[in-house]
Amino acid sequence: MQDGSIEIRAAAADFGAEVSGLDLAGDITAAELAAIQAAMIRHKVLVFRDQNLDDESHHAFALRFGPLEGHINHSTRHGELPKLQVFGNVGADGKPTGVHPEKGTLVWHTDKSYVATPSLFTILRSPSVARRGGHTLFADMSRAYAALEPGRAEQLEGLRAVHDWKRSREKSDERAATAEEIAAAPAVDHPLIRTHPDTAARAIYIGNHASHILDWELAAGEALLAELETHATQEQFIYRHLWRDNDVLMWDNRCTMHYVTAYDAAIERRVVHRAVVQGDAPY
Ligand code: OGA
Ligand code: MN
Repeated sequence: MQDGSIEIRAAAADFGAEVSGLDLAGDITAAELAAIQAAMIRHKVLVFRDQNLDDESHHAFALRFGPLEGHINHSTRHGELPKLQVFGNVGADGKPTGVHPEKGTLVWHTDKSYVATPSLFTILRSPSVARRGGHTLFADMSRAYAALEPGRAEQLEGLRAVHDWKRSREKSDERAATAEEIAAAPAVDHPLIRTHPDTAARAIYIGNHASHILDWELAAGEALLAELETHATQEQFIYRHLWRDNDVLMWDNRCTMHYVTAYDAAIERRVVHRAVVQGDAPY
């Protein structure tokens, strides 16, 4: 597809696309913004190559899509721009620390599903790219929904999943949530099948923050969530992003899940800077 100078190259099954012809650090016109919005709706994950964003221009670009949200984990906040988060394994001495900063990103999830109004778009750049591993994988949750066995969707209708930051950290073997974090992020519940406000497409809304099914026995809910995750993360629903220097990656959290693949945190230097646009309550 071509829109003025913007070129959009779709990945397989239209899930994910590379967008070229835009300088995200420059002035994005209203028409360009509309083209990006339309591409987001169609492809759910966008890659902008060869960008030269710094933190200020990254922040400014993200703000074009709406207000940004901070993170519950204050230790990842950017010094001057508190709505940006920095995740990395590079120490003050410039050497790899050996520790991946957030183990919750190593498992399938959708951003901030543990709050009442979860993230809309996440916009990521990677000032330091791992040379081996550290890919970002995405699952197309509306295609996964559409591919459910006949009759399965009807059974899932009306169910609600409980999403819980505290439980999610236990599951991913991350440092326990602090009392302050738990108070700031009490468990919430969301429809198991959500509707995209722009397209009305339904999508399975699960991931590591989803703990169990509301009003169901714990084990039965966990089993259902595991079954749906196995279904949704089959190869045909996946887009795999292999990072290059100066990439900017942007995704719609309402209809995708993602995670980072393993890399050797003692050898590679992997740093991401992240801006997250606030979303609305799922329905
Ligand atoms: C995130 C995230 C993935 C990555 O920033 O929300 O999950 O590739 N990051 O670092
Ligand atoms: Mn994430």
